[in-house]
Order: sequence, then structure tokens, then C-alpha cells
Amino acid sequence: MKLICLLMVILVMERGHTLSPRTKNFRRELRIDDFQPQQIHIAIGQTNQDIVVTWTTPSPTDSSLVKYGRKKIEQTALGNSLKFVDGGSEHREMWIHRVTLSGLQPDATYKYHCGSYQGWSEMFTFSTWKKGTDWPVSLAMFGDMGAINAQSLPRLQEETQKGMYHGIVHVGDFAYNMDTDNARIGDTFMRQIQPIAAYVPYMTCPGNHEQKYNFSNYRARFSMPGYLDTESLFYSWNIGPVHMIAINTEAYYFLNYGLKPLSRQYEWLLDDLEVPEENHM
Ligand SMILES: *[C@@H]1O[C@H](CO)[C@@H](O)[C@H](O)[C@H]1NC(C)=O
Repeated sequence: MKLICLLMVILVMERGHTLSPRTKNFRRELRIDDFQPQQIHIAIGQTNQDIVVTWTTPSPTDSSLVKYGRKKIEQTALGNSLKFVDGGSEHREMWIHRVTLSGLQPDATYKYHCGSYQGWSEMFTFSTWKKGTDWPVSLAMFGDMGAINAQSLPRLQEETQKGMYHGIVHVGDFAYNMDTDNARIGDTFMRQIQPIAAYVPYMTCPGNHEQKYNFSNYRARFSMPGYLDTESLFYSWNIGPVHMIAINTEAYYFLNYGLKPLSRQYEWLLDDLEVPEENHM
């Protein structure tokens, strides 16, 4: 009888939404392990024969693997993961996995999937670029795309699937903002771009909307060439006849994060511009 009374009290509490704030917090923190890869995206690596695959899991996994190949899935590449803690009040945690596929053939199509023995993604494909400079490059380049009312998203998804682009260049202002709602908007946005970004290199640079917590969502979620060193904030890459340079102009506005990012970027840019033409290929 005591037990039944207790149950009734709990039921009444539930129905009346009279849970104390503490109970609410407890319920929110209740989480099941989720090892399933999500938010999968690729970028060109240190050379055009490298592709870096990046994805997120809510829970930590034993390993970070990509299985890939041209006709058959016969190669495995091992990478690593880093815990990312968002700067918001919930300090949400997620694991960001990065794996580099190196020594890829030029002008070839590969299949891949990523994950670990605790959970694999579906299969995706990408095509490496041609060698040399004598070919017409097709890139979609834009800035400012939110997670809500992203008018151009369906079209970009469809055109990517039709093979219209060699790559995407998103020059800042993602999701509005990736840090919003304890970085849940960032997760949503990264899932929305997966039908694009898992198939062609999705190259990025930060905008002012990424500045929260010292650009930490941006730095954690993307893996541009040299990301271990410059955290995707500035870098360069080549595609066909084009040498692309990404710099973080926001470094000039958010001086509260220090002058070092500014001076480092400046030095790096001078070096990058001085590299002889043939080394850019
Ligand atoms: C912000 O991040 C940049 C890049 O990692 C770093 O150089 C700088 O010291 C950071 N600033 C602060 C105040 O933490």
C-alpha cells in the first residue's frame, strides 16, 4: 500500500509538472551512450592526395576509423578523437573524430564509411581532383547560411549529388550560431550540410558569428589543411589553376582574444605568398 501511494504521488507530480528544478536537471543529464557517427564532412588535406574525414559522436568510442576503397572497401585508416566541451551553461560534451586518407589517386572516385566497431555510418563517395592546372574548376562559394530557413541548402544538396561541384567554400557565418542553445544549433547545422559535405570537400573560414568562446565551435568542428597548427583559422590550398588563401579577418575585430592570432596570421600570410609558384601545385 505504501508503494502504491508513493507511485500515485509521483504520478501526480508528473502530471502537474511540479518537478523541482533539481529533478529536471537530473532528467536532462540522463543520457544513453551513442556511438553512432553523425555530422560527417570532408576537407582537402595537406596535399590534394589527402582527404580528412571529420565526424561527431555524442559518446567516446574505442577508435576512429575510415574504411574506404575504389571498387571494394579494402583499406582502413585510423585517426583520433578529441573531446569538445562547448562554452555554454550546460558544458555539453561531444567527441570530434578526424581521420586522414592519404596517398589517394588523382581523378578517382572512392567509397567510404566512418565510425568504429561500436557503430558505422552509411556509405558515402567522393572524387579526388585532377592533377595539374589545366582544367575548369567548379566551386560553390558563399557565406551566411543558417540552420533555420537556409534557402539555398536544398539546392546545394541536390546540385552536389548531381556532381556539379568539385568543392564548397563557405566563407563564414554558420548556423546562426553554432554555439546557440548550448551548441545544439551547431549540431543541427552540421547534420544539415552532411548531404553536401560528406561528398565534396567543404572548405571553411570563420566569420563574426563564430567568435563565441574564442571561435571554439568553429575550431573544434572543422579540419582544414594544417588544422593541427592553425586550427582551421587560416590556411591555403590549391585547386586546378587556383591558389586559395583563407584568412580570419575577424582576428582584427575580436582583439579581446589577444594580438597573437593576428600577428601569427600575418607572418603566415607573408610566407604563404612568398612560396614559389611551382610549390603551390
Ligand atoms: C584564442 O584562440 C587562439 C587560437 O587558438 C589563441 O592563439 C589565443 O591565445 C586564444 N585567446 C584566448 C584569450 O584564449
